[in-house]
Amino acid sequence: MADDNGSNKLWGGRFAGGPAAIMERINASIGFDRKLYAQDIAASKAHCAMLVATDIIGAEDGKAILAGLDQIKGEIEAGDFTINPALEDIHMHVESRLAQIIGDAAGRLHTARSRNDQVATDFRLWVRDTIDDLDGALIDLQQALLARAEEHAETLMPGFTHLQVAQPVTFGHHLMAYVEMFGRDRGRLADARTRLNENPLGSAALAGTSFPIDRHMTARALGFDRPTANSLDAVSDRDFALEFLSAASICAVHLSRLAEELVIWSSAQFRFASLSDSFSTGSSIMPQKRNPDAAELIRAKTGRIVGSLNTLLIVMKGLPLAYSKDMQEDKEPTFDAAEAIGLCVAAMAGMIGDLKVNKPVLLQAAGAGFATATDLADWLVQNLDMPFRRAHHVTGALVKLAEDEGCDLPDLSLAQMQAVEAGITDAVFGVLTVERSVASRRSYGGTSPERVREAIAAWKERLA
Ligand code: ARG
Repeated sequence: MADDNGSNKLWGGRFAGGPAAIMERINASIGFDRKLYAQDIAASKAHCAMLVATDIIGAEDGKAILAGLDQIKGEIEAGDFTINPALEDIHMHVESRLAQIIGDAAGRLHTARSRNDQVATDFRLWVRDTIDDLDGALIDLQQALLARAEEHAETLMPGFTHLQVAQPVTFGHHLMAYVEMFGRDRGRLADARTRLNENPLGSAALAGTSFPIDRHMTARALGFDRPTANSLDAVSDRDFALEFLSAASICAVHLSRLAEELVIWSSAQFRFASLSDSFSTGSSIMPQKRNPDAAELIRAKTGRIVGSLNTLLIVMKGLPLAYSKDMQEDKEPTFDAAEAIGLCVAAMAGMIGDLKVNKPVLLQAAGAGFATATDLADWLVQNLDMPFRRAHHVTGALVKLAEDEGCDLPDLSLAQMQAVEAGITDAVFGVLTVERSVASRRSYGGTSPERVREAIAAWKERLA
């Protein structure tokens, strides 16, 4: 949309010449903000209907504008829309196409608005849609984890601290830990959505407008709870994107931890679980290999998601009020992170859904490494009225003895135990099995199968 002298029609009045080619390249955002077309058209339709309702523009012009906008949406969705980098961004593309379709009346649409409130509105709507999609994907992931946790409410496995065997737990309990994490992620997204849901449209360039607009009307039409309260803030605020990226980053960190566990579990050294063929890849040279590529990529994509948050934080840092073109750099990191987190959540749900759990190996590992030593110490406290610190010391001596004998704790004889602590009786053997150990951890939030089943039932109700 260049004038004969090369200047741009949207502000050409003041310009004699067009931009340098390099200026056009650094300035144009159409290459990425075309993603906002549906939100841009929805916001323009709401604005147009409001301009008609407040008698700022005529009904005939309003009708032509609305029909033209619908036609443009159809053209874009049919892949039948010409991109012209000279038109800079999605807002100018839509407006200039509207002028081709309906003529001069198109010029009335931009009454009482600016691209500054327009882009703030479009981008909020886009982030809101993305939050809603991500919430749905996280529910699917939670459902997948719940289903597997229910199957494995009694499956024994070693619990780790420092990646050293600590105490036996159930596989179901382990998976439910991630259900909690993804539940908090959804809470953060919901929180961000609540604060996001205000309408910037009508803030105009920065100061509001002299036209008698109705911002409550456009807010309702676009599903916002209310108009934003300060026009300077509204056009220069990107907290909603930062909050989305923060929530996505924390969620990605959670995904990376589970991904890392899948990598460890599926290794030949652990063999706790194997990934299905659909989520493994082979090697072009080593025929035996089954690589957990999807899990590794989830682990890695956490970097670009956290990087996107960092990018936008630094873009926003120190920006004076109100709008600055810096803020055009908000979209690419946000789009990139949104795509990455969506992929990661879906791939994780797929991997968890088909994970093959190796119960015999888990059971054997659960008892390895003197995993019931804490149970022994607790028994000494509960039955011999020993202070815990002393019980810890006695148990340590028994573990050392078993280690020297090359056996597990339950394999020591009563006489060997009594040589270390005379008060020990036969009853101690009742607590040294991994089954008893896990069953005894009945405190609220603990790993006993009954507590795990309760937690699963509670989550099922929350998700229903
Ligand atoms: N493409 C711009 C962006 O994404 C739209 C707003 C332009 N506003 C302006 N005053 N130049 O931020």
